[in-house]
Amino acid sequence: MEVHKAEYRGSFPNVNKCPNDTRPEFAFIGRSNVGKSSLINMLTGRKEIAHTSKKPGKTQMLNYFLVNQQWHLVDLPGYGYAKRAKTTRVKWRKMIQDYLVKRHNLICTFILIDSNVPPQKIDLEFINWLGEMHMPFLIVFTKVDRLKPEEQEANIELFRKTMLETWEELPLQFITSSRTGEGRTEMLTYIDGLKEEYLPYD
Ligand code: GTP
Ligand code: MG
Repeated sequence: MEVHKAEYRGSFPNVNKCPNDTRPEFAFIGRSNVGKSSLINMLTGRKEIAHTSKKPGKTQMLNYFLVNQQWHLVDLPGYGYAKRAKTTRVKWRKMIQDYLVKRHNLICTFILIDSNVPPQKIDLEFINWLGEMHMPFLIVFTKVDRLKPEEQEANIELFRKTMLETWEELPLQFITSSRTGEGRTEMLTYIDGLKEEYLPYD
């Protein structure tokens, strides 16, 4: 799929305020600073359509990007940012969970996992929660440009092994770098296929 148009549609504080729109959407979620916004820029080929930051906690709302006037990418706030006040974290968690559960045209959630660190409890907990809710998701390993090939292989293998302690099968996984564009074609091709299958609900 070629991205010939990408536009920012707005930021919304909760699922009830999201656009009244039946086009298919795909959500990006993961720990703060994992590279969600950077990945959206990489996929759309726009430098700063989604704002990125070295400091975690940049994305604080549900941010909508319309691609090719056909589908939305939704950039969600990162979970597990310890420096936020507990009340704020609880509020964000509710906002994210509400969105994931209630948004009918959400086709699939991409969970971003930093390939540079060992498996994190908070990521595994989030994945297990999605599983319990029977929500479809995929895994995207981010920032692989920072690793030597053998480190990349070892980290990703360890994550898979850890997941297999609770899961019988692994979801589809993408290996990406927003710096080099690795994984872009694979992700866009996959999204293209899913959106073709999608039938809008009434
Ligand atoms: P929040 O909005 O705070 O939850 O963060 P985020 O997940 O949107 O992360 P963001 O895209 O803002 O990236 C965080 C930092 O990681 C920035 O300094 C990025 O430049 C860097 N980064 C993101 N993706 C990559 C990547 O593929 N490779 C490298 N080397 N750095 C990356
Ligand atoms: Mg962000």
